[in-house]
Amino acid sequence: MGSLIPEETIRQILDRVDIVDVISSWVPLKQTGRNFKAPCPFHHEKTPSFVVNPDKQIFHCFGCGVGGNVISFVMQQEQISFPEALRLLADRCGVAIPQAYTAGSSKEKLRDQAIYVCGLAAQFYHGQLVSSREESAREARTYLKARGIDLEQVRKFQLGFAPDRWDVLLEFLRTKDVTLGQMEAAGLIIPRQNKSGYYDRFRNRIVFPIFDKRGRCIAFGARSLDKESSAKYINSPETLLYTKGHHLYGLNWARETISKEDLAVVVEGYVDFITPFSAGIQNVVASLGTALTVEQVRLLNRHTTNVLLLYDSDVAGEQAMMRSLDMLVEEGMNVRVVTLSDGDDPDSFLRKYSPAAFRERLSRAETLFDFKLRVLRLRHDSVSIEGRARISAQMLETVSKFKNAVVQAEYLRQLAVALHLSEEALRFEMNKMAAGPSRPGKEAQPPKSVTAAVPVRPVERDMLRLLLNEQSFIPLTKEVLSVADFHNESVRAVIAKVFELYDKRQEVRVPDLLCCFEDQKILQMISNLIADEQFMTGDTHRFHKDCLHRIRQDRLKMIRQDILRQMRQADQTGDAQKLDELMQEFNRIIKH
Ligand code: CTP
Ligand code: MN
Repeated sequence: MGSLIPEETIRQILDRVDIVDVISSWVPLKQTGRNFKAPCPFHHEKTPSFVVNPDKQIFHCFGCGVGGNVISFVMQQEQISFPEALRLLADRCGVAIPQAYTAGSSKEKLRDQAIYVCGLAAQFYHGQLVSSREESAREARTYLKARGIDLEQVRKFQLGFAPDRWDVLLEFLRTKDVTLGQMEAAGLIIPRQNKSGYYDRFRNRIVFPIFDKRGRCIAFGARSLDKESSAKYINSPETLLYTKGHHLYGLNWARETISKEDLAVVVEGYVDFITPFSAGIQNVVASLGTALTVEQVRLLNRHTTNVLLLYDSDVAGEQAMMRSLDMLVEEGMNVRVVTLSDGDDPDSFLRKYSPAAFRERLSRAETLFDFKLRVLRLRHDSVSIEGRARISAQMLETVSKFKNAVVQAEYLRQLAVALHLSEEALRFEMNKMAAGPSRPGKEAQPPKSVTAAVPVRPVERDMLRLLLNEQSFIPLTKEVLSVADFHNESVRAVIAKVFELYDKRQEVRVPDLLCCFEDQKILQMISNLIADEQFMTGDTHRFHKDCLHRIRQDRLKMIRQDILRQMRQADQTGDAQKLDELMQEFNRIIKH
């Protein structure tokens, strides 16, 4: 979806803001030569590989590969859309975005509205919990008090209460001019079966607003007061703001401490977040019932790579941890596991014992390797050879995910010792696993990308890099090649824009080019290509000629193959005239 804000305005904004100045408001940049450096804000690292280039007005991280212009930085840093980022920058440099555009795209408008509606609902529920005189609200207050949650916590976490009636929230929102459609889009009301009218989704429940990392309410979890209720917790449905498993409860409050302590403690439930957080253990987040997802790990990854899993000491908790382990290793996280005993969860543990005892448990966390091995030994017979083979197969699944060969070798050694198996045999099995087809019993993974993109050929990448770094190559390239000669869709889009800008202005400035794209993938590719300054040394003219030649040869080869295919067809159908024509064309082509 293209931005509605005019290109002219975008250019004006980009001319006025300076990328170093803007990024400095989030990241402590240090000058090194012409460039500026800092630890990357988008992944956790100790040595800075995040570079800002003021001449080209781009940023790029050599560690995780993110990059782009000032707009894409703001989008990623603040997790906002293209028009939202533009508005933020426009405010900063005093450029007025014409009124007609300030509302943003329609999807955005819907999101903004839904956030507004969720915020209103959170306020309403909170008001009910704190001051309603209704009997059910009193019961809610008594319930929370009995669980040791006091008013200060209720305020801090904006806890609320949904009254025991069918349409109080609905009626409240109506007085705020919120339409039924907007309420439904925010996940707050449900249409009646007979299709006439709606009713409140949450009734007679304690309400936990779920905030995004910037502290905006995007969804709710709601706990029933009575133990007999069929569902202890219910949640907002999937909305345009909220997808289950894509958020971490508490990240808005905990993110600073997580960065500072370089460690995140991941728990399961709302109250398992609230109780430790209030007791001063503030690097906590809750995954809300599910096993940790890749999306959640990537949220954490911006603050730390060290994760401590602290799930309930029940079968479900153990399963959830077991399921996340391989993915966590694959994502490069450094994982430890804490197991509480006696059916405790973090909340109940802290109520029985002290914060000091809690911290002591955290400090005694097992490595992921030890945890998994221990659980598997309890599940399988670790004496018989079959049992040990089964255990080792599952352990190797995890060990094979470690990218570091030294770490892998050490775990293989430990595994061999623990199971009395030969290290060579384990390594052999592990290599077999890596090479073989996906194992039965493993859940089918959805493909990473639905559209099977044509990979970028190195020669296309080299050519694009040449054009971006040296404009004088553009005219000749345009003469010899056409956009269609580039196979990768993203490369093609950039080349088309380069040619277009060149036709228009006889000049292609990188900042101008960057502001033509909203697609993060493309922006990243461009910044990637520009950031590598080593590239433009040596005989670039000769290299350019060589790339031109190779791309042209590729095109001719494809045309030849196409003609040959048609010739075979004509031959089969006995079309002599067609065959003759094709032959002539083929001969003409191979002379090139
Ligand atoms: N959960 C859920 N839906 C359920 C059960 C659980 O969404 N039907 C999520 C909630 O986020 C809950 C977490 O899973 O906080 C952990 O569930 P559980 O251990 O059963 O609950 P507790 O967090 O211990 O809840 P409480 O202490 O309030 O009993
Ligand atoms: Mn609990």
